[in-house]
Amino acid sequence: MIITGTTRLLGIIGDPVGHSRSPQMQNRALVEAGLEWVYLPFHVLPERLEAAVAGLRALEIHGFNVTVPHKVAIVPLLDRLSPEAAEIGAVNTVLNDNGTLVGHNTDGFGLIASLEQDAGFDPHGGELVVVGAGGAARAAVHALCGAGAARVVIVNRTVGRASDLAEQYGARFPEVRIEVRPTLPSSLARYDLLLNTTSVGMDGSSLAADPATLGSSAVVYDMVYSPSESPLLAAARLMGLRRANGLGMLAAQGERAFTLWTGLTPPQGLMKAVLQDTVLGSRF
Ligand code: ATR
Repeated sequence: MIITGTTRLLGIIGDPVGHSRSPQMQNRALVEAGLEWVYLPFHVLPERLEAAVAGLRALEIHGFNVTVPHKVAIVPLLDRLSPEAAEIGAVNTVLNDNGTLVGHNTDGFGLIASLEQDAGFDPHGGELVVVGAGGAARAAVHALCGAGAARVVIVNRTVGRASDLAEQYGARFPEVRIEVRPTLPSSLARYDLLLNTTSVGMDGSSLAADPATLGSSAVVYDMVYSPSESPLLAAARLMGLRRANGLGMLAAQGERAFTLWTGLTPPQGLMKAVLQDTVLGSRF
């Protein structure tokens, strides 16, 4: 990578940001595409978010990713939002369009692409269970409803958070049956997808979600990718079910962001391969 006076700048803001794999995968794709651009990590504390966004504007950064805990807080600091980002109420990608900061959300696209590529799953017409009602679930439920799900059951221990989601998306997607529960249904036999959007499973702890009652054609998707096989995915493997972790989603949201910034499609599979190398090579 050669940095000159005309190198374009991309980056990611988060707190923490040191664990992010986005710099590796984005820089590899930039190099492969022959672009003289660079993607850097920026540690931004919550109380400095406003100053950081003003600084990135002043530096005429071309675009940046936004990660925890800034995805919602950045919304009022931007000039415009894509329809998806506005409906989800969270931004993971910002494009600087000649001085106008436009917020996008590519997480939902990443999920739908990964479900298809990694698990051969199309949500259209499906009955789906989504565990969690936080930021990741907001993007997921929005995307699943947009992809034509027939029914989405949101399971969250804090049921009020799930109800807020159901109410908002129920108005946006009146054709989808959206339901809320504090615990998983006792039988999952009628469901086509069990999706974990929570971080439970990252530390080896097990989600109170047992895939044992799923039918044999159901898919289990866990956004957790480190460890690469969470207890939930291990249980799904023992059941012989189709399954995938969140690595493909992380790659696909990054591919979409890359395209928003550069107008180019990154080489097929490159970002996922870089992620696999970095995750497998890490202490996890
Ligand atoms: P993210 O942006 O990653 O989704 P978040 O907005 O903090 O993070 O949401 C975390 C989600 O994981 C929530 O649905 C949370 O449940 P609550 O709304 O009840 O807090 C869920 N979660 C986190 N730890 C959990 C645990 N140990 N058991 C069950 N759910 C958990």
